[in-house]
Amino acid sequence: MSSSSLPFATPPMRLGVCYYPEQWPRERWADDARAMREMGLSTVRIAEFAWSRMEPSEGRFDWEWLDAAIETLAAQGLQVILGTPTAAPPQWLVQAHPDVLPVDAQGRVKPFGARRHYCFSSPSMWTASERIVTAMAQRYGQHPAVVAWQTDNEYGCHDTTLSYSPAALTAFRRWLAERYGSIEALNDAWGTAFWGVQFLGFEHVGFPVGQPTSALPTHAMDFRRFSSDQVVRYNRMQVELLRQHAPGRPVLHNFMGLFGEFDHHEMGQDLDIAAWDSYPLGHVDTAATFLTEAERQQWARTGHPDISAFHHDLYRGIGHGRLWVMEQQAGPVNWADWNALPLPGMVRAWSWEAFAHGAELVSYFRWRQLPYGQEQMHSGLNRPDGQRDVGGEEAARVAQEIAQVAAALPADALATVSAEVALVVDYPSLWMTQIQPQGKDMAGFGVAIRYYSALRQLGLNVDVIGPDADLSAYRLVVLPQSLHVSDALAQRLQQHSGVIVAGPRTGSKTADLAIATPLPPGPLRALLPVRVRAVESMRPGRHYAVQAEAGSPLGHASQWRDLLDLDASPEGQDVQVRERCEDGWPARVSAGRVDLHAALVDPALLQAWLDDAARRAGLSTVAISAQKPGLRLRRRGALQFAINHGPADAQVPVPTGVPLLLGSATLPPGGVAAWVVPGSAPRSR
Ligand code: GAL
Repeated sequence: MSSSSLPFATPPMRLGVCYYPEQWPRERWADDARAMREMGLSTVRIAEFAWSRMEPSEGRFDWEWLDAAIETLAAQGLQVILGTPTAAPPQWLVQAHPDVLPVDAQGRVKPFGARRHYCFSSPSMWTASERIVTAMAQRYGQHPAVVAWQTDNEYGCHDTTLSYSPAALTAFRRWLAERYGSIEALNDAWGTAFWGVQFLGFEHVGFPVGQPTSALPTHAMDFRRFSSDQVVRYNRMQVELLRQHAPGRPVLHNFMGLFGEFDHHEMGQDLDIAAWDSYPLGHVDTAATFLTEAERQQWARTGHPDISAFHHDLYRGIGHGRLWVMEQQAGPVNWADWNALPLPGMVRAWSWEAFAHGAELVSYFRWRQLPYGQEQMHSGLNRPDGQRDVGGEEAARVAQEIAQVAAALPADALATVSAEVALVVDYPSLWMTQIQPQGKDMAGFGVAIRYYSALRQLGLNVDVIGPDADLSAYRLVVLPQSLHVSDALAQRLQQHSGVIVAGPRTGSKTADLAIATPLPPGPLRALLPVRVRAVESMRPGRHYAVQAEAGSPLGHASQWRDLLDLDASPEGQDVQVRERCEDGWPARVSAGRVDLHAALVDPALLQAWLDDAARRAGLSTVAISAQKPGLRLRRRGALQFAINHGPADAQVPVPTGVPLLLGSATLPPGGVAAWVVPGSAPRSR
C-alpha cells in the first residue's frame, strides 16, 4: 500500500486519546467528544476491549452502541482509530471452547476474568477472531470517520507470547517437522549428543520448560521462534481481513516498550505504521531492570532521557518511517511497583519528544480516569469527576503549540526524519541473551540502550534498525549486542564504507544458538581478524581498570569482557589494540574502519570510544550532557529540538541570533525548545 494514498499521508503532528465509550453512560459521550475537540485532540482510539459488547453471543452482533459512539465522535470532527477487540475474548467463547485459554509454563490454565486470556495457537480463537474482525471491518471499513485500524492490543502483554497449551504443543511439533524434515536433522541441529537428549520423533518433543535443569538452548530458541511466528501469523490474518474490508486505511499495532518476545521486525512487514505505548515513569520504576537504584531515583518523575527516545527511533524503523504513539502516559500509572507523579511539564515534554523523533500522532492514555476496575488508580487527561487533570492541561498546551509551529513552517518542513548513526538491534539475538545470559545482567535491552544513550549524549541522531535494513545512509553503524550476525549482514557490513563499531559478544552465536565457527566474532572475522578465546562475566562491583598502552586508567570494564587473540589479517591489515584491561587483555581494538569493543565499559569511557568512532566517520559531536545530564537533542526536518529531563536548568545549543520557535535558551527541567536549523531554509507561510 503506498503511503501517499493513506489518511495521515503528510506527516502532521496530531494529538489523540484512548477512549472507552462502553465504560461511560451514553449521556456523557457528546460532552466528552466536545471536550476532546476543545482540548485540541483530533483522533480517538476506541473499541479494543469491547468484543463482548459487539458480539454478545456467538454470531449475534450488536453494533448499535458502536455506531452511535462513532457518530458522536465524528459529529465533533474527530477521527476514529478502531481497535480489533481480540485482546479480550468474551466468556461465551471461552466456555464453548476452553482451548482458547493460554497455559503457563507450570501447566496451569490462565482463566477468564481479565484480558489477553488466549493462546495464539488455539484454532477456536483463530476462527472466532476471523469472524469478529471480518464483521467489524465490513461494518466500519468504509466509514469516513474511521481513519485507521489497530490490530488487537499489545501482543504479548502480561507474559502471553509463550503458551504451553495442548494446541501450542501440536502446532510446535508441526512447526518443527516443517523446519527439520526428519527427527535426525532436529537432533543434529539441537546438539542432542549432549546429555543424550536424543528425541525419538517429533511427537515426543515437549516444551523446553519443567526439566530438572535447563533444556537444550536450541530447543528453547526454536520454541521462541515458533511462538514469535504464531503471533506474526495471527496478526497477519487480521491485517489481511482489514485490507480486504477496510481498503485505504492504514493498519498498525500498538507495540510495547522494553519488550521483545516476538520478532517486531517481522510483524512490521505486515503493517503500515508502527505504534507503541509510551509509559516513561513505569519504565523507569519497574520495566527497565537494567537501571541502577540511583538512576531510578534520578529519573523517577521525568522518565529516563533515552528510553522513550530509543523506542521512538526503533518503532519508526519498524513502521517503515511511520511512527505513532498510541498510548502516551498522561499522569501516574497503576502498574509499576511505585507510581510517581510526572514532574509538571513532562506530559508536554514527552509529547514533543515523540514529535521530535518523527511521531505523526501522540495519543494519550486515557481520556478520563475510571473510578472502578483494575485500572481505577490509573490517571487520564481528566480526573474521575470529569475535570481536567494536569495531563489534560498540558495536552491542550501542546495542541496550541503544534498550531503555532505549523503556522511558522511550510507543510513539508517536518517530513524527513534522518539520522547519521544506525544502531542495529535484532530480536533473535535478544532471545539468545535471555536463554543463555552467562552473566545475570546481560539479558534484554540494557546493553543496546546503554550504547544508544552514549550516542545521544554526543548529540547524534540515531536510527535503531533491524539486521536486514539498508546501511548505505549511515556513516556510523553500531552493533551493540548482535549475538548472531548472519552471513548476509556480515557481507553488507563488509561492503559498507562507513565506520563500524561492534560491541562485546558480536557474532558469537550461530542462528541455532551454538558457538560460532570460526570462533567469535564468527562471520565478522573477515573484518576483524581476532578470535575470542574466552569470555568472562563479572558480578556487580567487580571490574578491571582500562588503560591506553602506556597510560593511566581511563575508566573500567564491568559486566562482560571477551578475551581476544589477534590474528594477522588476510588483507595484511593489522589489528591495533587501542586500550587494554589492567591485566593486559585488549579492551578495544580497531582494524581499519572497524572497532571491536571487547568489554562493556563505564558510560564516560563508552562515550569517548563512540566519540572517536563518530569523528573518524566524519561526524561532528557535542558533549551535550557533560554538565546537563538530562538534556537531549533531536532533529526532525528543518527543526532542531532540545528536551531537558532535568534535574537542573540547561542551556540549549541554539546558534547565536537564531530565534526559538518553542521554549527558551535556558530550559528548566521538563522544558522543550525548538528552532529552525540555519540553512535548512523553510519558507514561512
Ligand atoms: C497498556 C494497555 C492499556 C492500559 C495501559 C495502562 O499496556 O495497552 O490498555 O492497560 O497499559 O498503563
